[in-house]
Amino acid sequence: MFAGICLGTTVDFLMPSIDKTPCLDKLDPYGQEHLLQFWDQLTNRGRRQLTEQIQEIDFPLVDSLFRGEIDQPDWAEQSQLATPPRAVRLEQRKAGSPGELGITPKEALQRGESALRDGAMGVILTAGGQGSRLGFEKPKSLYPIGPLSKASLLQIHIEKILAATHRYEVSVPLYLMTSSATHDDTVQFLEDNENFGLAADDLFVFCQGSMPAVDRETGKLLLAEKDRLFLSPDGHGGTVAALASSGAIEHMQSRGIDQLFYLQVDNPLAPMCDAELLGFHLLAESQLTSLTVAKQDPHEKLGNFAEIDGRLHVIEYSDFPENIAELRDDLGRLRFWAGSIAIHIFQRDLLERSLSLTDSLPFHVAQKKVPYLNVYGELVTPDESNALKFERFIFDLLPEAERPIVVEYDEAESFAPLKNAPGAAKDTAEYVRQMMLAQHRRWIEAAGAKVAGGVDVEISPLFALDAAGVTQHVQPGKEFRTSQYLEPTFPKQN
Ligand code: UD1
Repeated sequence: MFAGICLGTTVDFLMPSIDKTPCLDKLDPYGQEHLLQFWDQLTNRGRRQLTEQIQEIDFPLVDSLFRGEIDQPDWAEQSQLATPPRAVRLEQRKAGSPGELGITPKEALQRGESALRDGAMGVILTAGGQGSRLGFEKPKSLYPIGPLSKASLLQIHIEKILAATHRYEVSVPLYLMTSSATHDDTVQFLEDNENFGLAADDLFVFCQGSMPAVDRETGKLLLAEKDRLFLSPDGHGGTVAALASSGAIEHMQSRGIDQLFYLQVDNPLAPMCDAELLGFHLLAESQLTSLTVAKQDPHEKLGNFAEIDGRLHVIEYSDFPENIAELRDDLGRLRFWAGSIAIHIFQRDLLERSLSLTDSLPFHVAQKKVPYLNVYGELVTPDESNALKFERFIFDLLPEAERPIVVEYDEAESFAPLKNAPGAAKDTAEYVRQMMLAQHRRWIEAAGAKVAGGVDVEISPLFALDAAGVTQHVQPGKEFRTSQYLEPTFPKQN
């Protein structure tokens, strides 16, 4: 199912001449009339596109964001009050003990598996980002990350969902969020590949909103072209509003989906629909459970889980004061150890409730380099930050959640995000592929088999979803002597 039309998909057809007065009326109170400075040079189609974009903008909001009238938390001050979060630690999970929540991993696993079999879970996958930072001029979700298979990030996530569907004998719907920058290409890619086997009613594609960028000195909106504003996705926090406006929430209600596994498309190691995580979430009666990994270094670029005044928060790495990030306990371990890898389970009720809470998701203001059209109609590419961009973050829902918990997982088993172009120390395509191959090697070894030195084995999620799945298909004692891609063992749905 494909919901909504993203701006930018305007159909070109004969249309009556467009009047600019309604636009001027909207722009004038905010001193933004310059957006129409090339009006006389535009075709009807260009005028229509520009008009549509202008009509969509919430000018009072953008104006107050520029003027700083909307409160931004003072994280430097707030961080002084922060304490580490209530958590299920990895050591405790490995030891099988109940820990501070009084829930053993075995109890959690059983509870989670039973809820999955009951069809309680859906998946929200955010895929609004382009691959530009990687030198890949398409949606990041299309990046061919599979080390041998060259499967895209999107294919890997969908195949994991299909594997969960197969394991629990119940369908798990995917709510896939695109942005106006990625929507058309993503939809086309899915069509070309027959949704990678996902049944039509288990796929709900919806598009997040956009926000303009403004000149950081004057607050004037920037033009990308004479007939087009510079717009960018409104952040993954835009998920909440877009779920509602697209009808996805109703779809969840009609399907009885009460819990949503949320992940970002850049991380192919994400433990999709993990039963133990779901079990901890349900048994702790948490409205929002987050997967965390222990930070190895205080300066790692991960959001930090922290409690302030009894409420859980993620404080972004860029906002977290260095002296607090570097604090250590008596044993020399980081006090704020819990890094966010952007994997959560949301109770649907929380998503619904958050829609009625104005300001539940504040905008964050960031200074960025944004190319823009100058008064002569020339494109200027700045060397320094010239603009302000506004984004919402999904983790700002945390303080609204009742009884939230964080559960620690091993980073090597859950997190290898594709973020950087070749040459960076971490999070490049090469790094992600090595992490995938190392994980698959460990799974094969855990099943009592071997992968010969210098040999690469990639496991399709349709062959095995995890280490437990590998034990069902790989005989102990087997040795893989040639590099290979272990392919599906069961048919897809369509
Ligand atoms: C993000 C988190 C950080 C976390 C890290 C883990 C933020 C602000 N910070 O950092 O706390 O530790 O991931 O990887 O998110 N996306 C959209 N639409 C948007 C923006 C993002 O769909 O408007 C999705 C895309 O799937 C994108 C992903 O979110 O790939 C991550 O966004 P990115 O801007 O790369 O976040 P980071 O700065 O890496």
